[in-house]
Amino acid sequence: MNRRDFLLGTAASAGALGAGGWSLASAAAAQRLTIQPASFAFRNTPTRGLVSLSPDAPPPVLFGTQGEPMNLRVENGTEDYTAMHWHGLRIANAMDGVPYLTQMPIAGGESFDYTFTPPDAGTYWYHPHCMTMAQMAHGLTGVMVIREAEDPGFDGDQVVNLRDFRLDDAGAFLPYYTARGAARGGTHGNVLTANWLQAPVYDHPAGGLVRLRVVNSDTTRIYKLHLSTDQARIIAWDGHPAEIELPLPSAKEPLLVGPGQRVDFAVQMPAGEEQTADLLAELPGQPTRTMAQLRSVGAGLARDLRELKPLPANPVARPDLANAEVHDFVFGWTPEGGPPNDGYCGSMGYSFWSINRTPWAGDAAKGTGPLAVLERGKSYVLRLRNESPNLHPIHLHGLAFVPIRSNLRKLPPLVTDTLLLLKDEVVEIALVADNPGDWAFHCHVIEHQKTGLAGYIRVV
Ligand code: C2O
Ligand code: CU
Ligand code: CU
Repeated sequence: MNRRDFLLGTAASAGALGAGGWSLASAAAAQRLTIQPASFAFRNTPTRGLVSLSPDAPPPVLFGTQGEPMNLRVENGTEDYTAMHWHGLRIANAMDGVPYLTQMPIAGGESFDYTFTPPDAGTYWYHPHCMTMAQMAHGLTGVMVIREAEDPGFDGDQVVNLRDFRLDDAGAFLPYYTARGAARGGTHGNVLTANWLQAPVYDHPAGGLVRLRVVNSDTTRIYKLHLSTDQARIIAWDGHPAEIELPLPSAKEPLLVGPGQRVDFAVQMPAGEEQTADLLAELPGQPTRTMAQLRSVGAGLARDLRELKPLPANPVARPDLANAEVHDFVFGWTPEGGPPNDGYCGSMGYSFWSINRTPWAGDAAKGTGPLAVLERGKSYVLRLRNESPNLHPIHLHGLAFVPIRSNLRKLPPLVTDTLLLLKDEVVEIALVADNPGDWAFHCHVIEHQKTGLAGYIRVV
């Protein structure tokens, strides 16, 4: 059995084989994703009222290849409206999945065909953008792996989708948002999961090199992460290859990964069988929590982190800072305004937040114009100012950007789609407006997004 056969045989990477039928979508046939009610036992008793793509499992990892077409038919098997968004993929605006802005909501029993060709390789994810709070809180968040055109040479690939659920002792859902939370840091879940499991263990070849793809798809929590091993490197951030060497996080200085953000580590598996490399989280007032473990199995491969070539850069245009026009955005409280109007996509009934004093109506774009109009092909600097005492992971659809300056810290110039804006922080980000359309621009703490901290940017 050669190394790759061995890998594909482990439970951890079974998805990569396509045996489940999810990952072998040919370019021609549409892969069908049916949003449907689900139940799953997070603890001893099954939790009902989940929303997933199968009746009893988390939304699967979807696989694509950079530069190759994908064809995903999203069917709505629920009675609520929905629409699916592909977070971080720089694709055509009509495929972006934002209700009213790029498409009409998908009603129960209806479907929508999403066809696109991912220009970038890396770790991305998908989630609904209509009934966003309800459907995400009830489970509908999944990971998308867009493979490099050329295999980067890992011995294993492990996706870890971090997300919390708010459950009572009997396993039933507690209210998934609170007005108190929405007006502050958001409402946190109390059952912390990785791929819907608590501290799962995944087997990988001893001494091998594993690509650990960590996705924070939670609606609220900013994860503070580190690893139990120092035989690791950060190789990508928010999908895109890290072009500079980043310090490995530690218990004292964990990596802040906000909702919507991703980090890819290259991990060298311990040489001894049964030894583990762990993904750890620091939680307020609690001992360090193990989120997931990679366990060494087999005879030992004796690979070395230094054997890895850097991942090839994605084709993201570099902004011309000398000629970039500056636009200002203030993230703060909402002014007194009309009642929230959210079309068919689920109002939370409050308006607490705003961008540039304009609250957006939840998922629905009706009634407000763009926050900025950018000219296609030009470079821009967006100056993001946080007027609130809370942290906000600010996400822009359809375009990749680079942070260039903060008033509080030295930000590495990593290509991203989501920036965690700290309390009292002003960050300048730069981009080339090279993808035409109306692109949602919002906080990824969904309770903030749905109570006003949202808007859109138009590229013409
Ligand atoms: Cu990940 Cu507008 O979203
Ligand atoms: Cu997005
Ligand atoms: Cu926020």
